[in-house]
Amino acid sequence: MKQVKQLIAEQLQEKLGTDVETKDIEVPEPEHGDFAYPAMKAASQLEKNPRKLAEKTAEKLQEDELIQEVEVAGPGYLNFYLNKKEYGKIVSEGLETDKMSVEQREGEVLLEFSSPNIAKPMHIGHVRNNCLGDSLQRIMRFSGYNVTSENYLGDWGAQFGKSIFAFKKYGSEEKLDENPMEHIYNLYVKFHNEAENDPQIVEKAAEWSKRIEEGDEEAERLWKKLRKITIEYDMKDYERMDIEFDRITGESKVVEEGEEIVERGLEKGIFKEDDDGSVYIDFEDENMPNTIVKKSDGTTLYLTRDIANIEKRAKEGFEKNLYVVASEQDLHFKQLFKIAEEFGIDDIDNEHISYGMLNLGEGGMSSREGNIITLSDLLDKATEKAEEKIQDRENIENAEKIGLGAVKYANLKVSRRKDIEFNWEDVLNFEGDSGPYLQYSNTRAKSILKKTDTKGEFVGEFNETEYQLLRKLGEFPEKVSSAAENRDPVKVANYLSTLCEEFNTFYHDCPVIDAEEDERKRRVKLVKLFIDVSDKGLELLGIEPLEEM
Ligand code: ARG
Repeated sequence: MKQVKQLIAEQLQEKLGTDVETKDIEVPEPEHGDFAYPAMKAASQLEKNPRKLAEKTAEKLQEDELIQEVEVAGPGYLNFYLNKKEYGKIVSEGLETDKMSVEQREGEVLLEFSSPNIAKPMHIGHVRNNCLGDSLQRIMRFSGYNVTSENYLGDWGAQFGKSIFAFKKYGSEEKLDENPMEHIYNLYVKFHNEAENDPQIVEKAAEWSKRIEEGDEEAERLWKKLRKITIEYDMKDYERMDIEFDRITGESKVVEEGEEIVERGLEKGIFKEDDDGSVYIDFEDENMPNTIVKKSDGTTLYLTRDIANIEKRAKEGFEKNLYVVASEQDLHFKQLFKIAEEFGIDDIDNEHISYGMLNLGEGGMSSREGNIITLSDLLDKATEKAEEKIQDRENIENAEKIGLGAVKYANLKVSRRKDIEFNWEDVLNFEGDSGPYLQYSNTRAKSILKKTDTKGEFVGEFNETEYQLLRKLGEFPEKVSSAAENRDPVKVANYLSTLCEEFNTFYHDCPVIDAEEDERKRRVKLVKLFIDVSDKGLELLGIEPLEEM
């Protein structure tokens, strides 16, 4: 099903004789028509005067069933006025298809997100990642990509020797069975406190790190246990957030491949060996700091395993390799992708989907003594706050869905590269630009339909308010595409917010149930389309649409 913008772009392309893409078509303020095309770019390509080109093109464009009038304005704009009925038909038929007119793309995509380290609970730093990654997997799938989502655990490295040592020294199997994650994490904190006075224990812990590396039986058993405990614990957070992964992997799965990469890199002259036996890559020509891929003790690094993993993913047949990771690691990924290039791994496109900080601000939450703010603390708090806000006590069981929806929306409504100043007032403001506001608008529409069995149909003429709602609804497909292409759910989040505003204007100005027949049919149809679009939009953000609120 073609979108209206596409139909206009095609007409223009034919008449202009130069490329016109859907994204070149703008949605102007209502007084300048339904769509607009600035001919300036095409004019400079064709070396013509933009105003004259626009005039010539307007003459050639025949008015058809859809395009009612074309007007030339300003330095070279073409403003399109559409036949509203025809437009309504195209929008509604498009939205009623399976993929709601969202342009379908192809490609095998590996989307990595979350990727927490083991032996500690997920914390506040994972909130934005989880929200972004999950929404992206939903958006990219809906856009036709074949997405495999992967949680690549940080499950290899010297720090786990510390956890094991701490467990052996201070822990108990009993407590481990009772409250595994808490026990492990407390021991780790204790270890760090003790180490300040007793540097010897650091050395002892290092022995355990070595034993893990060497595959010592006891070390491996305990490391496996740490990994298992973490996965079981994290799974509860994911379930609560309604996040699913197609696979869970981890650094430990590419340790040998990492060692092999070092050898190959040396042979190829990509890496250099230092006097102490460590291996590094010289990035002087790239204006980046040099970086080590193998330590003098023979062990590999986080970066080394990432190199090996790119090769592995390419061999698996993935065409795109996407990482949702905070901007703190921008340099890491720049170095990583450069190394992959030097290895000649060019059949996979690597992308770092970088994002800014989530700042809880003052009074946002205080961390428990010696502890981090865990992800589940934040989710608890969100639920609690939502409970306080819900007026209709009958719907109190929705609190978690509202609280979590609020947190997710707050994380998605800001462009991913920007930092977020999180404050509970705004996040849970039922009237503002918030998750609950979206959920509320959606349930409001559903409650209208519960009161009528009129079948929706576009009959008669749209009034201005109805028409503006229709126009907004028609923008849904392109917003999803742009979110997918920019790897940023913000496009869908902001769109939904303005759509809900438009709907609420309609709700106040256009009675549905009490309208005369044609009007009622038309408005029921609009309400129905709004429900479809907002249900799907919320789903794409990972926010659960509700029946009542
Ligand atoms: N485990 C890492 C951390 O917690 C993030 C991993 C990101 N993914 C990657 N392939 N490097 O910082």
